[in-house]
Amino acid sequence: KKAKMIIDKAYKIAEIDERVYGSFIEHLGRAVYGGLYEPGHPEADEQGFRKDVIDLVQQLNVPIVRYPGGNMVSAYNWEDGIGPKEDRPKRLELAWRVIETNEVGTNEFVDWAKKAGSEVMMAINLGTRGIDAARNIIEYTNHPSGTYWSDLRVKHGYKEPHKIKTWCLGNEMDGPWQVGQKTAYEYGRLASEAGKAMRLVDPDIELVSCGSSNTDMPTFPDWEAETLTHTYDVVDYISLHQYFGNRDDDSQNFIANGMELERFISTVTSVADYIKAKKRSKKTLMLSFDEWNVWYHSNDADKEIEPWTVAPPQLEDHYNFEDALLVGSILITFLKHADRVKMACMAQLVNVIAPIMTENMGAAWKQTIYYPYMHASVYGRGVSLKAIVDSPKFDTKDYTDVEYLDTAVVYNEEEEELTVFALNRHIEDDLHVTINVSGFEDYEIKEHIVLEHDDLKAVNTATHESVTPHRNGNAVLQDGFIEAKLSKASWHVVRLR
Ligand code: AHR
Repeated sequence: KKAKMIIDKAYKIAEIDERVYGSFIEHLGRAVYGGLYEPGHPEADEQGFRKDVIDLVQQLNVPIVRYPGGNMVSAYNWEDGIGPKEDRPKRLELAWRVIETNEVGTNEFVDWAKKAGSEVMMAINLGTRGIDAARNIIEYTNHPSGTYWSDLRVKHGYKEPHKIKTWCLGNEMDGPWQVGQKTAYEYGRLASEAGKAMRLVDPDIELVSCGSSNTDMPTFPDWEAETLTHTYDVVDYISLHQYFGNRDDDSQNFIANGMELERFISTVTSVADYIKAKKRSKKTLMLSFDEWNVWYHSNDADKEIEPWTVAPPQLEDHYNFEDALLVGSILITFLKHADRVKMACMAQLVNVIAPIMTENMGAAWKQTIYYPYMHASVYGRGVSLKAIVDSPKFDTKDYTDVEYLDTAVVYNEEEEELTVFALNRHIEDDLHVTINVSGFEDYEIKEHIVLEHDDLKAVNTATHESVTPHRNGNAVLQDGFIEAKLSKASWHVVRLR
């Protein structure tokens, strides 16, 4: 099979907001306790944070991390996690039915994020709480001093305000699993009033209105239309969440799931623009895809977990090679929509549906999905260019006209670097690709990174990395054209300078 594409500097989609390479840490399973934080571990620092984990996060170059939930935030009292640790209450954590010790809370997480080189995206509880708790937490984190909550922060050892910029107004409030689930009207009104109060405390913040939990929700996309009717003027983003699974073991269909994401992004964009038109608003709402990943491998194991234990191993998906391919495709999709998708968080970061795993008191290691995420985050900074693609197509159970060649192109003007991310989505056919880059005179191929494997189900473990990229890709550049063979089901990063 053969595909062709043309790349030119003039075909700009938009400047990429680096926050599309964000991630997520929820107080869930072993994400915090036993993941980020394990006092007594040989790699633990003075605060109990594992330096080996921080190192792996730094290699991913994660610009922003959403915290502290997820479902957990909808019954969370943020005040439980501040002040002297010995005074912090243990609570029944209702979302995941575990005991929350509150040893780590807002201040510690801000410290951890600084060490990891990330900003914090903070989610507030709009399940069991509301406007008052919302205005208090932002006074605690963002107000300089001289008031009850800001002085309490100073007393807790944090003289300077944290200046947290990005705030999520609740989490998945349409979901029946959510403590304090709301109708679109109830959520829209509450979020708009909570957001208004938060902005009065700190006008510099950015706010995310909660969108549907996924495209299968019966209220999607009416939820978006009704909630935005209330929140549009006060927020900057609407959230999207989507998880994928290969439950029928149909790998070709699974790897094509980027098509569903395309549909989702375009629907939410249309609804947001419809509300913009209705309101005669000058503002264009952006999208925050603040939860996305593959999630299904651990579903059965999670049913066996004893309730009311501390940090049990929940949602510990063990990712294989085909999962890594879909993750690559998801990142490509975000880049293709860089004009509207300004933030995105791989859910999650450590141990819980995560690229990074830890053994208790043992090693930290990289899952298969670590690699496409790292490649996109490290090399995908700059302007997203629209590639003109002519690719053969195939059909799967759920999708028609799936292009073999799934690709996004990033031009980094400052570094004078061009990066082509490409996936051959077909699991049986190789693909020969010809890329016209004649507008990039004097550029040469710097490297061609490839993630490929004979076995779509191959996994990494703590002791053996079976799925790992190599730098021996076959791309050659001659007379303004790149020629490359993309073997069946493979991920590629071709870097030119
Ligand atoms: O990331 C795991 C869970 O998925 C989150 O807590 C929730 O928001 C979503 O349903």
